[in-house]
Amino acid sequence: MYYFVFLFIPVFAAITITAPADFSIAASSATQTLSWTFSSSSSITCSINSYLGEISFPVYTASGVSATNSLSYTDTVFYQRASFTGTASQMDNAFASAVYQPHQFYSSNTGSKAVIEQTDYIEIVCTDGSTSASASTMVGIGTGWVDDPTCGGNSCDSHGWCDKTTGNCYCWWPYYGSSTSRCDKLDCGICKHGSTCDTSTGKCTCTSSTFSGDHCEIVACTAASCNGNGWCNPTNGVCQCYSGYTGETCSLIYCLNNCNGNGVCNMSTGTCTCATNYFGTDCSFKKCPRDCGAYGGCNYSTGECKCYGTYSAKDCYFATCPGTPTCSSKGVCNYYTGECVCNSGYVGVDCSLTSA
Ligand SMILES: *[C@@H]1O[C@H](CO)[C@@H](O)[C@H](O)[C@H]1NC(C)=O
Ligand SMILES: *[C@@H]1O[C@H](CO)[C@@H](O)[C@H](O)[C@H]1NC(C)=O
Repeated sequence: MYYFVFLFIPVFAAITITAPADFSIAASSATQTLSWTFSSSSSITCSINSYLGEISFPVYTASGVSATNSLSYTDTVFYQRASFTGTASQMDNAFASAVYQPHQFYSSNTGSKAVIEQTDYIEIVCTDGSTSASASTMVGIGTGWVDDPTCGGNSCDSHGWCDKTTGNCYCWWPYYGSSTSRCDKLDCGICKHGSTCDTSTGKCTCTSSTFSGDHCEIVACTAASCNGNGWCNPTNGVCQCYSGYTGETCSLIYCLNNCNGNGVCNMSTGTCTCATNYFGTDCSFKKCPRDCGAYGGCNYSTGECKCYGTYSAKDCYFATCPGTPTCSSKGVCNYYTGECVCNSGYVGVDCSLTSA
């Protein structure tokens, strides 16, 4: 007797995933293109986990696929969680040329980047709501210090310091950069007389042979260019100024006796501006107080009055009356005339006599 047993085998919607083969990846910034393929009759949602590397997917621009991607960092651990939803063929597109790159960690000691020697386990898990499938890939990651990774690989041209967190070079003067990751140019400072800076040498390019020096600051002289106040030395192109003149073109004039220290010299005119109380071409004269008035003469080398007759005081404005003590204490001195005005009962120029 045979029993025919009709077994009803339900046909589940099956998901299959073909993962890329295990692979190794070199240290530093090497990348590897990966590809997954999917098979499913319904729309699926897949999530992908990576611990040590970051996967960039073209999915972000692929149509029909919605995606989320999150990256997390701790001191030494990086991980990525990404989630995608779409049909199998849309997923094929999304994962067809994903790029894997080992994550690089900064060393707090050296500021350099390192790729940790580890094995990354990339896992992909897909579900259509009722069934799920997973596939995984092992990634062997090499280790290595990445030399100067963020400053364009130019090591700031050995003329600066690379800030590894920003990728910008800080150049040492007089160097500066054609970009933030270079220190490839030399600053000339000020280029004079219309010259331009040659940033490869840091020297100014002069407009003609009349000018020389790193900044084209030296002007070769001609007889005329010494302003008649000097002669042009043809061996070095420098004006040799006559006594009393100075400057590149002998246009500056020394003031007489350097204003004797009693004034300020204007070297374009060679004239002194004297301090208060001084006068004269070279400020050698000193004014006397009130010019000693009418009863004295000024000694302009000392600024002191020499008073006439009985006149005294610094400015000779006051006369002294005769008598010791003044007007014999028997009268009042008129200091303007130098005459005593005697008290009643006294007479004489110094009031020393009693009236009869
Ligand atoms: C020097 O003298 C010239 C001519 O008088 C004047 O133009 C200039 O301002 C003076 N310079 C100073 C520093 O006083
Ligand atoms: C002015 O004073 C100086 C210093 O005391 C003296 O040598 C000079 O002879 C004086 N000049 C006159 C004109 O009195």
